[in-house]
Amino acid sequence: MKMGNTQYRSIWVEGSAVRIIDQTRLPHEFCIITLDSLAQAATAIRDMWVRGAPLIGATAAYGMAIGMREDASDAGLQRAHDVLMQTRPTAVNLRWALEDMLAHLAPLAPADRAAAAMARAAAVADDDVAINASIGDHGLSVIRDIAARKAGPVNILTHCNAGWLATVDWGTATAPIYKAHQAGIAVHVWVDETRPRNQGAHLTAWEMASHGIAHHLIVDNAGGHLMQHGQVDMVIVGTDRTTARGDVCNKIGTYLKALAAHDNNVPFYVALPSPTIDWRVQDGVREIPIEERGGDEVSFVQGKLADGSVTRLRISPEATPAANPAFDVTPARLVTGLITERGICPATAEGLAAMFPERVGS
Ligand code: MRU
Repeated sequence: MKMGNTQYRSIWVEGSAVRIIDQTRLPHEFCIITLDSLAQAATAIRDMWVRGAPLIGATAAYGMAIGMREDASDAGLQRAHDVLMQTRPTAVNLRWALEDMLAHLAPLAPADRAAAAMARAAAVADDDVAINASIGDHGLSVIRDIAARKAGPVNILTHCNAGWLATVDWGTATAPIYKAHQAGIAVHVWVDETRPRNQGAHLTAWEMASHGIAHHLIVDNAGGHLMQHGQVDMVIVGTDRTTARGDVCNKIGTYLKALAAHDNNVPFYVALPSPTIDWRVQDGVREIPIEERGGDEVSFVQGKLADGSVTRLRISPEATPAANPAFDVTPARLVTGLITERGICPATAEGLAAMFPERVGS
């Protein structure tokens, strides 16, 4: 997406350097980091310099490519795969990208692997951009339909950041919003702050503000109230892993939004790129590993002081321990539709199988 006059992706290559935006510093600082080792690529994912399921996948692909510069032997290839696979457990795009890279590189001679890996990682990144643009087109039709039925802007609630920062470009949940804005449809976005890490407040709000899209930041608990008062026309969220029968795992708190939407007849859509489908699991609540992150993310908040410095502040007693499950699962029955790159389908095994018949069981 364009920032000022510069076109950015969230991960890109200059010469042979792989560059990312350090998302832990946004919205207060815009810092670019060059990933120059396999270990650093793994740290970037684990410590969430980059985050969001599709971007985790793309960074893992580039991480494999960087790893091939260090050691392109069979052992080195497997090691790069294993190191990166350990970084974060929930977003299935990580496994998808690493298995793709491994399958592509394993048959090659070690001397050919570094160049082939860079080319393959670039293809993974380009595919992500095309997938998200297509999700945007399909989601745009939903927004257009709502706009045709009402006066005033289409009010869209989103949770966490499933924006261009969470993907290589466009975002998943935000792609229809960007497309609607470009098409001249008035949209207004309710941005959940998304505790504990505040990806909504830090990242989605920054994206909306940067692109001149009308929005308000709300506390995570405000969504149900707004829905009861007719102030939300639709919800769109992203996903870290969607099962073969349509259960949706996404940032913690998504499930509560889905319950509130269901109770208020508000359509609840999930923007779902196909690499985020885990065809090997059915029951999301039982089968998806939920990342448990450190309690400090709950006990502290990060923000900017009046003097401009960025700092962390403790918000709870030092003696109070914090629990931090990072994701939850929204059962398929609460999902109005899955917006994929091939079109919108019901969140059912049949719906997904009809959309991606060649992937069933993969
Ligand atoms: O912990 P994060 O910031 O990686 O979680 C991100 C989310 O939950 C997103 O909603 C999801 O990855 C979809 S991104 C297009």
